[in-house]
Amino acid sequence: MIVCICQNVSDGKIHRAVDGGVTSMVQLRDQLGVGTCCGKCHAHAKQVLRECLSSNAQQSHCHMQPMLFQRNIMAAA
Ligand code: FES
Repeated sequence: MIVCICQNVSDGKIHRAVDGGVTSMVQLRDQLGVGTCCGKCHAHAKQVLRECLSSNAQQSHCHMQPMLFQRNIMAAA
């Protein structure tokens, strides 16, 4: 889905930018040009950015659980 029509930025591009380290609207604007023309996309782009950051945080939390579990098993042995 296109988030920024002026700069042809989709939610997928925002997801990839977040995967590449983007954490703020300023970085998103600098890397993809989101909101640099008419600015009407700003609120939606910010929402997509928050969703991506939240999704990534949950995924990294899920990846940590097995590692902690394995450490506890090794510590108990
Ligand atoms: Fe994003 Fe116009 S729609 S700057």
